[in-house]
Amino acid sequence: MNYKIALIPGDGIGPEIVAEAKKVLDKVCETYGHSFSYEEVLLGGASIDVHGVPLTEEAVETAKASDAVLMGSIGGDAKTSPWYKLEPSKRPEAGLLAIRKALNLFANLRPAYLYDELKGACPLKEEVIGDGFDMIIVRELTGGLYFGERKTVEENGVTTAVDTLTYNENEIRRIAVKAFDIAMKRSKKVTSVDKANVLDSSRLWRKVVEEVAKDYPEVTLEHMLVDNCAMQLVHNPGQFDVILTENMFGDILSDEASMVTGSIGMLSSASLNETKFGLYEPSHGSAPDIAGKGIANPLATILSAAMMLRYSLDLDKEADAVEAAVQKVLTEGYRTVDIMADGMKQVGTKEMGDLIAER
Ligand code: NAI
Ligand code: MG
Repeated sequence: MNYKIALIPGDGIGPEIVAEAKKVLDKVCETYGHSFSYEEVLLGGASIDVHGVPLTEEAVETAKASDAVLMGSIGGDAKTSPWYKLEPSKRPEAGLLAIRKALNLFANLRPAYLYDELKGACPLKEEVIGDGFDMIIVRELTGGLYFGERKTVEENGVTTAVDTLTYNENEIRRIAVKAFDIAMKRSKKVTSVDKANVLDSSRLWRKVVEEVAKDYPEVTLEHMLVDNCAMQLVHNPGQFDVILTENMFGDILSDEASMVTGSIGMLSSASLNETKFGLYEPSHGSAPDIAGKGIANPLATILSAAMMLRYSLDLDKEADAVEAAVQKVLTEGYRTVDIMADGMKQVGTKEMGDLIAER
């Protein structure tokens, strides 16, 4: 198959890790007879340096004309980088928010998977880890509290701030459909997380999710209150497969879930719109502290590329192969410095990419 992929190397370690993901995708093409064409897109600091703004119209158009976008990470060191002398709306992060919005990416996917080989980095006790865990959080990204009306008012000398949490049934339905579709590609269980004992928006959430579930008889649906979910993630993470939730709960729970894996350099993510199109990026940032040193862990980006194969290009077998290669390289004892442990073989960014491509 032929696909058009927009590549956003970005800032800091971004260009180094995206190069390794591309190396792996080239190998996928060679092995399975596909042909991907790449178009490079500037975003964040890299775009500011060339165009004076973190995102151009042209960059958005290139992204839109592609089948999927693979991104490194953007941003610099806020204390030293000249990008942060600009006003907030002109800084690198503004470009990322703007492109997500322009592409209508309402579904954010964050897997949290514990490799047996990296159990040592997991902060949970052995009896809690059990057989490990393999979950994916599906977070609504363009509605709820972060996008509702907000205001601060002064009355009789008292300041009051108001944020509004709004969801309509269509917004809930489309994210629920994504979660159930994903569950069909996994072990067919959805845990929908809300606060239905208190919030009207959560009661509507529950009702709509129940309706959507009727179209997926093979998928088991359970509801969980968000405070309980926060506890369960560190008490019994193995119970989860797909966690479906709204914007703010998802923000908090996905960070919690990523911390229980203990390895930031391993965590992929995706943001999807209503079609198959999506933007894929590691969960971590641009790590300016290690940029240019050739030591960054490219696995989160390589695993993001695997998600791209699975969710945007429908190349499941190829995605499985990339994930199996990552597993194999870890089993063989290769580690970048961030996941290094006694007795393992330390490799740099490029070597790690080579190893995955070979496997
Ligand atoms: P960060 O994730 O870039 O780094 C946190 C720590 O983890 C650092 O010590 C870093 O060296 C390490 N680390 C991160 N990724 C790694 C990898 N692949 N291999 C080895 N070590 C890795 O978070 P930080 O320092 O808070 O932010 C740095 C910049 O990244 C900021 O400008 C921030 O705004 C931006 N950022 C961008 C994101 C994005 O592009 N989506 C997301 C988060 C932060
Ligand atoms: Mg967050």
